Amino acid sequence: MSEESATQDMTDAQDPRTLLAQAMHYTDPATGAVSPPIHMASTYARDADYGLVAGASYSRADNPTYRTVERVLRELDGAAESLVLSSGMAAIACVLETVPSGKRVAAPTVIYHGTLEYLEGLAAHRGVELDFFKAGEPGALEAAIRPGETDLVWIEPIVNPTWAVVDVAAAAESAHAAGAALAVDATCTPALTTRPLALGADMVVQSGTKYLGGHSDVVAGVLSTADAESPRWARARRLRSLAGGVLGPMEAWLLLRGMRTMALRWERACDNAMAIARHFDGHPALDGVLYPGLETHPGHATAARQMTGGFGGMLSLLLKADFAGTQRVATRTRVILPATSLGGVESLIEHRKAIEPPGSAVPDNLLRLSIGIEAVEDLIADLEQALAGVGG
Ligand SMILES: Cc1ncc(COP(=O)(O)O)c(C=O)c1O
Repeated sequence: MSEESATQDMTDAQDPRTLLAQAMHYTDPATGAVSPPIHMASTYARDADYGLVAGASYSRADNPTYRTVERVLRELDGAAESLVLSSGMAAIACVLETVPSGKRVAAPTVIYHGTLEYLEGLAAHRGVELDFFKAGEPGALEAAIRPGETDLVWIEPIVNPTWAVVDVAAAAESAHAAGAALAVDATCTPALTTRPLALGADMVVQSGTKYLGGHSDVVAGVLSTADAESPRWARARRLRSLAGGVLGPMEAWLLLRGMRTMALRWERACDNAMAIARHFDGHPALDGVLYPGLETHPGHATAARQMTGGFGGMLSLLLKADFAGTQRVATRTRVILPATSLGGVESLIEHRKAIEPPGSAVPDNLLRLSIGIEAVEDLIADLEQALAGVGG
């Protein structure tokens, strides 16, 4: 089955919401089914000329189940090519492993801790040098880049879990001026709101486990590139197969299944998070609400420019409490589930410092919230009761 026959491009509707809902107007050429088949095969027989019947040879390199989901992701990200992988971390590793020994990576001090840990491993075992900068601080990213030495600049458009805002277009300009590439982890800012490749980034990674899948039932990763011919892409692409970070066919199907409702889920999560941020801004139990949608957030102007489809479902609360007092609040919610991860239909709360590695710059009194699609009144009432007695 060729890629072309499996999925017809949409000709009229180009809005990403339509593209997602219809999986690019998918119909199965063999049966007319409006949902793609799942190919469980690990290997593929050859034809009479010893040729591959439809391009696939072995499922550690490729699987026909990927075709529709990768095509939709490519369109959504505005990419030259997109790949699905076994997790967000597998996608991150494929990019970070393209950095040659002896070269440097510039990255924020606070980002997803798995990425930081991977970077520290590269520094400890492979001779890659790291230059950290404070996200959102004017001039900090530029100062961390060393022309000719920095190979890769790594950012998150809103850094997890403090939600400081990084200007993606400015980061791309600074990276390229120094001869470096820009990679963006867009897990918390999917293409419905920010398209890093259009802002100048070279590669985008996402944990498909989060907003793309959206139901906390699948672990997946996505890697997209602006340039499918670049040597860095060739290496990253090959690493998916060589390191074996391939997505299972069932998971690829689940990822696409989740993506078809992403526009609705995203819209509701953004609305709910904004309502919660506004409600708790200035609350007597809190030292602050970290949400880029609030006009008082230091990165709001940049966020408003680059988050064109909403400020997202992620926010953090800074409590008037110590480590133990903050953690206690995360055990008192009765609607919001105390769990790690984000981007699902159900709201989650997490005492982030408790799971960060030693030395993490994340404040002790930070509670991270991933806001889902529930009735926002229930979420606000739940947080109010959990915060009762905090701060006096
Ligand atoms: C911003 C960010 N990037 C990447 C990841 C890793 O994704 P996965 O758990 O799918 O490997 C996470 C996981 O929480 C994340 O929050």
